[in-house]
Amino acid sequence: MNRRMRPGTTWQSGIGPLAPLAGGLLVLLAALPAGAEAPQNDPGSRPAAVAFQYHFDQQHPGYRLLLEKPYVNQTVTPEIFDQLWTVWEKPLREKARQATPAQRREMTLRRYGLPPRPDGGPVPLSHVRNSRGGWAINCFFCHSGRVLGTVVPGAPNTLLDMQTLREDIRLVKSRQGRLSRYDLAEALFPMNTTRGTTNAVMFAVALGALRDLQLNRRREFKMPRFVHHDMDPPPWWNVKKKKRLYCDGFVARDHRPLMAFVMVPQNSGEKIRSWEDDFRQIYQWILSLEPPKYPFPVDHRLAERGRRVFNRHCARCHGTYGPGGKYPNRVVPIEELGTDPVRLQALSDYRRQYARSWFAHGGKLEVIEEPKGYVAPPLDGIWASAPYFHNGSVPTLWHVLHPDKRPVLWRRSSEDGYDTERVGLVIQQRDRLPEGLSRWQRRQWFDTRRFGKSAAGHRYPEKLTEDQRRAVLEYLKTL
Ligand code: HEC
Ligand code: HEC
Repeated sequence: MNRRMRPGTTWQSGIGPLAPLAGGLLVLLAALPAGAEAPQNDPGSRPAAVAFQYHFDQQHPGYRLLLEKPYVNQTVTPEIFDQLWTVWEKPLREKARQATPAQRREMTLRRYGLPPRPDGGPVPLSHVRNSRGGWAINCFFCHSGRVLGTVVPGAPNTLLDMQTLREDIRLVKSRQGRLSRYDLAEALFPMNTTRGTTNAVMFAVALGALRDLQLNRRREFKMPRFVHHDMDPPPWWNVKKKKRLYCDGFVARDHRPLMAFVMVPQNSGEKIRSWEDDFRQIYQWILSLEPPKYPFPVDHRLAERGRRVFNRHCARCHGTYGPGGKYPNRVVPIEELGTDPVRLQALSDYRRQYARSWFAHGGKLEVIEEPKGYVAPPLDGIWASAPYFHNGSVPTLWHVLHPDKRPVLWRRSSEDGYDTERVGLVIQQRDRLPEGLSRWQRRQWFDTRRFGKSAAGHRYPEKLTEDQRRAVLEYLKTL
């Protein structure tokens, strides 16, 4: 059976020691707290100390801005956050009632997939406190994940359940008679149908429809075409290798595209444009990130064989690695690639407006209005960014390499566990959804038969023998 490891999970002890280095860099170490228990639904797991390295500059002004400056309105107050458990389903609510405040907080963060701050502190990493004490979300809401139980700023947040968070906040507020106009409008908009993914791209479409080309608020609202679908964000440590941003590479890399998310109706165009310097800093911080290092043993002879197979079969799209490595920034036509096409087809009108907008410097920044397919992403740190493909439909690298064995309906069976054999998430599969699930529980299942969620395509590994695939899998651990 697979060897599965599970490091620290509690909110504070899971963060591990933070060791300051010269130049303001940090090495993040995750260690299993003594006496941690294996999860019941994961019989193969056993506690073991796991440490891995991830460098990020904690003193960088871009990082400080992300942590400290609110760019959007508050979405929750600490008081409401502390009451969320009161609207949970029965058994969980009872557990929360009997828990200590610290345990209840950990349960709350876990339910919605919110990352705690690496340096501790009362506000989660996903939020910023504003001048009135309320909490506004920041980029880390979607762009900060837990890898092996440790928070990694810049990794995709593959545990986030924004829909459940918004539903629970509305329930608490409605009990208190405090629902606002925005709460009601927002209720009509799907945040995500599967945990770990979001409808983020359609948020940008909705917010963009409220703006003219200079990002000033429009008087009339022209209803855009919405094609709701969920995406798994890419890891930020690879942005520096890319010439273009987003899975279809539609816009050249620049700091302005990073500002799409601050277009909430409350911000005037002038205010948004005045934040440009902040986003230059944030962009620089993102470009400074390095991929985390695989912490488990690697068979280096096998990996070396894998490197040769990879260079022959995969490198023309994904590039070469190590000293002198090259990344080709290749877009692969969708007909050839065969992965889910929904995201590619959903943005036509948006891209057209975008090409002439302030984001694209009024036409100076290259925008491809009709991209033909998806970009083959860099695979640095690929072990740490499961699940795979732009929609997060494939749970492990082994499944990427075995197109016919990809699970149809799956969910994580252990949040912090790691499948070192198949390299990626520890999962459970079913033919159909179990009966009697709450909506929150149903969102934990990834159903590849649903719209925008296909795990098909990318059949390139089929050219390899089983032996070659084993070698490539070993090599991928080292990137
Ligand atoms: C609600 C979730 C969410 C929030 C909040 C969010 N993003 Fe993203 N981000 C995504 C998703 C999903 C993608 C992938 C979109 C695509 O490829 O079409 C993405 C893509 C990106 C990319 C492109 C990466 C690449 O490799 O192509 C950058 C850079 C980025 N986001 C920066 C930011 C910044 C900076 C913020 C905060 C100002 C932010 N994002 C806020 C979800 C989010
Ligand atoms: C013809 C170009 C091409 C070839 C050849 C190719 N890939 Fe890919 N690969 C892609 C594209 C494009 C994607 C993005 C698909 C998507 O997100 O829908 C991708 C995605 C991936 C991913 C998931 C990346 C992520 O961040 O989710 C992995 C892993 C991967 N490829 C590994 C391989 C391996 C190993 C080989 C060789 C056996 C290979 N690829 C061959 C184009 C290619």
